[in-house]
Amino acid sequence: MSDLHQRLEGRKPKFAIILGSSLGDVAEAVTDPLVIPYAELSGFPLPKISGHAGKLYVGKLGGKEVAVLAGRAHPYESGNAAAMRPAIEQLHNADVTTLVLTNAAGSLKTSIGPGSLMMLTDHINYAGMNPLIGTHSDADFVSLTDAYDPGLRKQLLAAAKKEKIPLKQGVYCWFSGPSFETPAEIRMMQIVGGSAVGMSTVPETIIARRLGLKVCAISTVTNLAAGIKGASPSHEETKREGAKAAGKMRRLLTRFFKDMKA
Ligand code: HPA
Repeated sequence: MSDLHQRLEGRKPKFAIILGSSLGDVAEAVTDPLVIPYAELSGFPLPKISGHAGKLYVGKLGGKEVAVLAGRAHPYESGNAAAMRPAIEQLHNADVTTLVLTNAAGSLKTSIGPGSLMMLTDHINYAGMNPLIGTHSDADFVSLTDAYDPGLRKQLLAAAKKEKIPLKQGVYCWFSGPSFETPAEIRMMQIVGGSAVGMSTVPETIIARRLGLKVCAISTVTNLAAGIKGASPSHEETKREGAKAAGKMRRLLTRFFKDMKA
């Protein structure tokens, strides 16, 4: 077990990506990777859910040095909203400054159909948990205005345009899971201004903002949320549809990093 910064063999990633369900393809695009199993890294979780790997890839994507986390711990696995905090702290200690979060999500809008990519403009924390509860620091009163960095959002939109990938934008609602939402819950989230719903990302954004990292996030829409046009989501569907969108996500992120000035 070692700290990430001791394992980098001279590599200096400024960017990290956390991959959502079945987006392992993105990790495959990393060139000349140093692959480290989470089990060898202090603070990294051992994912227990199929569709999530548990390996860190450090190498180049679009010519920039990145650390790609294939696999995340979800708060629904343990009840711990801060399950990803130690891993994100490790990234921060290794001088990562920017975190790109990806996930699979259900859509609240028929205009954002299955197969779409949606960039988060904001979120609604409906899980009733917060990863900063109980750490007792004045610095925990983190502003979440512009949690999803406006500059990075512009760069993602530009990258999508260049790659001719339609990139939707919207508000991601965090439900804890692991059960899917009810149709009544989905109707409520439509009324309060949500665009998509999922079981991750929000706590990671809060942790990363607490540490001063810049954040942007993209959902792969795997399904219409419960009740919309009779939809009844399943984990199998999430994995299958997530894998289908992986190629698009890989192209988008490769272009995003290629055109990144830093
Ligand atoms: N709800 C919550 N999480 C999800 C969904 C959904 O419909 N689809 C993929 N992840």
